[in-house]
Amino acid sequence: MVGTGAYLPAKVLRNSDLESMVDTSDRWIVERTGIQERRIAAEKECPSDMGTAAALMALERAGLTPEDLDLIIVATTTADTLFPSTACQIQQKIGARKVPAFDLQAACSGFLYGLVMAHHLVALGTYRTILVVGAEKLSSIVNWSDRNTCVLFGDGAGAVIIQQSATGGRLLAHDLGADGSQGQVLTVPAGGSRLPITAENVGEGLQFIQMVGKTVFRLAIDAMESTARTCLNKVGLPVDKVDYVIPHQANMRIIELLATRLDLPLKRFFIHLERYGNTSAACIPIALHEALTAGNIQPGEKILLIAFGGGLTWASALLEW
Ligand code: ACO
Repeated sequence: MVGTGAYLPAKVLRNSDLESMVDTSDRWIVERTGIQERRIAAEKECPSDMGTAAALMALERAGLTPEDLDLIIVATTTADTLFPSTACQIQQKIGARKVPAFDLQAACSGFLYGLVMAHHLVALGTYRTILVVGAEKLSSIVNWSDRNTCVLFGDGAGAVIIQQSATGGRLLAHDLGADGSQGQVLTVPAGGSRLPITAENVGEGLQFIQMVGKTVFRLAIDAMESTARTCLNKVGLPVDKVDYVIPHQANMRIIELLATRLDLPLKRFFIHLERYGNTSAACIPIALHEALTAGNIQPGEKILLIAFGGGLTWASALLEW
C-alpha cells in the first residue's frame, strides 16, 4: 500500500440538525452510537466524484499519476448508476488509461474485499499498480424520516494504491467471509430487479435502508471478533501484539465491546465515527488515511483492519507498516 487518500463532503449534519427532522435528541444519539455529526454530499455529488478526489490524492501521495494505473476496483453500495459502474466513471474522471475497472459490492466490508483482491493480483504479477476505492453516498438511500437509521450514516470516500514495494503497508494475513442466510437483517428491498422502483413501493419507503438494529449489533460484534482472531491465527500473531486496530465505524458501543472481547485497550483503536458516522465501504480507507497522516501509524507496526456489513459480510486484514 503505497498511497492513501480521502475525501469528505463539506456539508456537516449535526445531531442538533436531526432533532428538527425526526423525534430524536443529541443525547440519545451520542449515548447509543457515539456519533455527533456526519458529512452529507451535495445534491449532484456522487460516489464517483468523491472517489475521484480520494483517488487523485492517493496517487499524488504515492508519487504516481493516473496513467500508472493498471486496474481500478471500487467498493460501493451506492453506485452512481447501476451501469456504467462507478469504477468506469472514476477511470474517466481521473484520466486513467483504458484499464479494467469494476465495482465490488460487499456492503461495509467491500473495501477490504477489494484490498485482498488487489493484493493477490499484484502478488501474482497480473497487474503492477491497482487503485482500490471505497466511496459511498448513503444519504441517498437513508430514510430521513426513520429515526432508527437516519442518525447512523454519512457520505465520503477513501482510496489506496497497491503496488509491489519495499515501503508502505504490507498485507500479512486476511480473512473474508459471508453469511447469506442472515441477509434480511440489513437490506434495501427495492431498486434491484426483484423489486424495481414503483410509485407504490416508494410510498412504503422500500428504496431505503431497512435494518433490524439489535440483531445487526449482536451479529456485528460476533463476526468482527471471530474474523479478527481467524486472521491473526493465520500468522500466529497474539492479539496483544497488534499495535493498532482500524474497525468499521458503525457504533461506538460495538467498538468498545470489540475492544473488551479482544482484551485490547480502546486507545489502540482508531475512531472517527463521532465526526463521520458510518460511511460503509468508505470508512476503513478514510480512517487509514487519517491515521497515517496524523502520525498514528509508525514503520514496523502491525495494523488490524476489521469490517462488517450487509450481506452479511465480514473481513479483516493484518498489515505491517
Ligand atoms: N432517537 C431516539 N430514540 C430512538 C432512536 C433515535 N434516533 N432510534 C431508536 N430509538 C428508540 C427506539 O424506537 C426504541 O424505543 P422503544 O423502546 O420505545 O421501542 C429505543 O430507542 C431503543 O431502541 P433500540 O433499537 O433498542 O436501540 P439500541 O440501543 O439497540 O440502538 C442502534 C439502536 C443504534 C441502531 C443499534 O442497534 C446499532 O447500532 N445497531 C447496529 C447498527 C449497524 O451497525 N448498522 C450498520 C451495519 S453496516 C452496513 O452494512 C450498512
